[in-house]
Amino acid sequence: MASIKNLTVREVFELVRPELQRVEEEFVLQTASGVHPITEIGQYLQEGGGKRLRPALVLLSSKLCEYEGLSSIRLGAVVEMIHTATLVHDDVIDQADTRRGRPSTNSRWGNHMSVLAGDWLYMQAFHIALAERNFRILDVLVRLTQVMVEGELLQLTCLRKLTVTEEEYLELAYRKTACLFSACLRVGALLGGKSESEETQLGLYGINLGLAFQLIDDVLDFTSSEEVLGKPIGSDLREGKLTLPLIYLLRRCTPEEARKVSQVLEEGGFHSVRFAEILDLIEHYGTLRAARERAQDFSNKARSFLEGFPNSPFKDALHSLPDFILERES
Ligand code: IPE
Ligand code: IPE
Ligand code: MG
Ligand code: MG
Repeated sequence: MASIKNLTVREVFELVRPELQRVEEEFVLQTASGVHPITEIGQYLQEGGGKRLRPALVLLSSKLCEYEGLSSIRLGAVVEMIHTATLVHDDVIDQADTRRGRPSTNSRWGNHMSVLAGDWLYMQAFHIALAERNFRILDVLVRLTQVMVEGELLQLTCLRKLTVTEEEYLELAYRKTACLFSACLRVGALLGGKSESEETQLGLYGINLGLAFQLIDDVLDFTSSEEVLGKPIGSDLREGKLTLPLIYLLRRCTPEEARKVSQVLEEGGFHSVRFAEILDLIEHYGTLRAARERAQDFSNKARSFLEGFPNSPFKDALHSLPDFILERES
């Protein structure tokens, strides 16, 4: 029996390269509107790039599920549009200046235009999805969008709170990120006409992959650089978000050390406490490593949900993705 092969990230993306190219074309085509600012913002967002991980997941999942056709390309564009809309709104909420290494939509066009452009993108995504006439797919996408919006709302209620628990943090990560990953995988299964149990397995793979992705994103917020990440580092704490490395830190550090974290939260930035002081603390208590280990657990768990699927290059690709996510630098 052939065994599972480990692919490089290049090899993974190579498997869906022509389709991803068509997803880009679809994105451009679908963000053209008679109203100029929409087209302009749509083009700006498409040119800004991004890893295109979510459309790749739709394509890999649909290929694993033996789907052949154009719907996976359209739905690849749909999930990227939903993702982009959440980023546009998220940057308004977080007052972020930079995204994907360039000025964020809000810093270029202002909040009002950005909110409306985000709304328009959501609706356009649903307009394309609706044309598929597949109610199960629509159901997944509509629920997903609600879960994500609820996640952003819940996040607001957790801002500047020193008492956020690991459980609350994981719920936010599920809502912000993992739910969309899961939806991408499930859309692939639905296109391939797979059973509910196969859809569930792929969905669970997606959830765990997405949780690992968000955990690493939050680690990178401490360890990376703006040049590599395309967004400023130290943003989470500055924005009042307590992420896993800090939640672990607060469990281990002294009350005086915890006071430094709460001071940054209260002051809304690194004023009387420097970012380097917080970095020293998480280094001293090894909590970045602990958060990475947690991400590793989710990655391993993700892989376990692929076991029932027959071997194929697409299974190899999905099997290899968790490792890239752990090792990713941007
Ligand atoms: C950013 O997602 C939002 C998070 C879930 C952390 P990505 O890191 O996939 O963003 P792009 O699309 O590659 O820019
Ligand atoms: C993630 O929220 C964005 C969404 C998935 C809606 P964050 O605020 O943590 O993400 P970044 O750091 O701005 O990319
Ligand atoms: Mg943000
Ligand atoms: Mg973040």
